[in-house]
Amino acid sequence: MTQQTDSEGRLRHLLTLDGLPLPQLRALLDRAQAIRDGDASDRALAGIAVCTLFFEPSTRTRLSFQRAAQRLGADVLGFDASTSSTTKGETALDTLKNIEAMGVRGFVVRHSGDGEVAALAAAAGPDTALVNAGDGRNAHPTQGLLDMLTLRQAKGADFSRLKVVIVGDVRHSRVARSDLHALRTLGAGEIRVCGPAALLPADGTLGGCVVSHDLDAAIEGVDAVMMLRLQRERMEEGLIDSLDDYHRDYGLDARRLRRAAGDAVVLHPGPMNRGVEIDDEVADGPQSLILQQVANGVAVRMAVLETLLA
Ligand code: NCD
Repeated sequence: MTQQTDSEGRLRHLLTLDGLPLPQLRALLDRAQAIRDGDASDRALAGIAVCTLFFEPSTRTRLSFQRAAQRLGADVLGFDASTSSTTKGETALDTLKNIEAMGVRGFVVRHSGDGEVAALAAAAGPDTALVNAGDGRNAHPTQGLLDMLTLRQAKGADFSRLKVVIVGDVRHSRVARSDLHALRTLGAGEIRVCGPAALLPADGTLGGCVVSHDLDAAIEGVDAVMMLRLQRERMEEGLIDSLDDYHRDYGLDARRLRRAAGDAVVLHPGPMNRGVEIDDEVADGPQSLILQQVANGVAVRMAVLETLLA
């Protein structure tokens, strides 16, 4: 954990929200909100080069980091593992070191291995900053931040009375882990987690949460429903019986959503499996904040890049 801060406690990298102190978490959210309200300099990162180093697919995260870096005036370099020397067997560390040697100071890194981004950060030079854009099942800190900003805009900054349910494939979800860390730090009143037993983690991840396998019960009266994608690419065979059964038991449709508070909001990190974990009527309905999450993602990523690099 000390690895992402320097000896004075300042953020050097953003690798995880686990253990990030409340003042630092709040400062990032406040800065992102200020940027949303129009307070940003298009010269903040002038002359600084930022590379999006993605060893796994991405649409939102990669493009919103690129957009964020551009809006701060940085020089932005893209990297696509499938058309790079990764296909010739070059390691992620050699890739990072070579791009670093070109004078790039900021790296936004996504990797399939838990802890891989932290390992790269440990090997990076003293002036280099890394942002974890998702490592395996472990962490996705900027998604956690943008989810908190979205909740804060909808429900206010005091989370102490907030009832939230996180639904679905928590076991494979780095988003859920980062959301859980942030919700705890911000003092969320009640955190419920709901999914089939096979898709809930058996380690200490759900400490302090109310765990349920019955969505109709778990959604009752909540202020926010945070849906997760069924992450079939990370799943061993046989964890779920069928997509139809999953949809019947854990899919969010308008009928189920009516059990939540009347003004409940719905979040999903994307990409969505429409008709599996979420129905069109909810995803595109009046309680959905899904595209607001995406818009907030740019501001959150601007706040993070500015904090680490400006
Ligand atoms: C998530 C991811 O890659 O972890 N997507 C995202 O960054 N918005 C969630 C997912 O893939 O389901």
